[in-house]
Amino acid sequence: MFSNDDFELLIQEIYSRYQYDFRLYSKSSLRRRLEQALIKFHCQNLKEIRMKVQTEKEFFPQLIAYLTVNTTEMFRDPGYFKSLRENVFPYLKTFPSLKIWIAGCSTGEEVISFSILLHEAGIKRFIIYATDINPMNLERAKKAIYDTEQVRKASSSYYEAGGTGSLADYYQAAYDSVQFNQDLLSNVVFSDHSLATDAVFSEMHLISCRNVLIYFEKPLQERVFKLFDESLVRDGFLGLGSKETLQFSSIKNKFEVRDRENKIYQKAWTP
Ligand SMILES: C[S@@+](CC[C@H](N)C(=O)[O-])C[C@H]1O[C@@H](n2cnc3c(N)ncnc32)[C@H](O)[C@@H]1O
Repeated sequence: MFSNDDFELLIQEIYSRYQYDFRLYSKSSLRRRLEQALIKFHCQNLKEIRMKVQTEKEFFPQLIAYLTVNTTEMFRDPGYFKSLRENVFPYLKTFPSLKIWIAGCSTGEEVISFSILLHEAGIKRFIIYATDINPMNLERAKKAIYDTEQVRKASSSYYEAGGTGSLADYYQAAYDSVQFNQDLLSNVVFSDHSLATDAVFSEMHLISCRNVLIYFEKPLQERVFKLFDESLVRDGFLGLGSKETLQFSSIKNKFEVRDRENKIYQKAWTP
């Protein structure tokens, strides 16, 4: 347990020293994760963590992994990917080229899933911008090396997502890990971008931001929804996670629900 003051001082220190803004993250889940960080870094209290942030340059990158939740998997919630394949890609295929933003891409499993899906839909001219605030996640994502057991489980999700081949066609196995074909990442730009502090960087046809907003308080969710609205072209699509919704946001009237169950929205045409 720790006091509110120590908690606020740490979050403020991180912001002023590194410009990582956790001030509007859900406090209860941040607190839970900081309790785990105390154990991991053998600290008695948050003052010690703050001291490490101030004095040890290499400490903060390790701490980020504890401040955020990185859980992800390939073809997570396969119904989402099936719906994209059936309801969204046929429409997007009519554009000469596509820009897709995967915001909060973690270690890249969602990126690989999208890349496979686009390949199977015959969409060749696209760029995926895959962004996250955790540099270690981005480095892992670029390597596209995953645990064999994890990929074995993803095979069934791939079929549920309407996969038309075999997931094994896309990787080479080596001991207890698999390496996905680098071709899958040739149209992917990985970049450090924070939904809490950074701005629009391009015009997108599809934004997928799943299982990120659940860790934000309402005002930060609102910031992100506005960012997505400003980033999407007319008729562009937005996909959220299973526990996330546009329903209570100020931009909800600018979007049509395309698939309620799978949280897929389309920016409505406004003259
Ligand atoms: C639970 S993972 C979700 C991964 C993937 N989208 C999925 O649904 O499987 C959440 C990711 O959001 C990232 N994240 C947290 N805060 C962020 C922010 N302000 N801007 C961008 N990414 C953020 C974390 O680093 C983490 O990789």
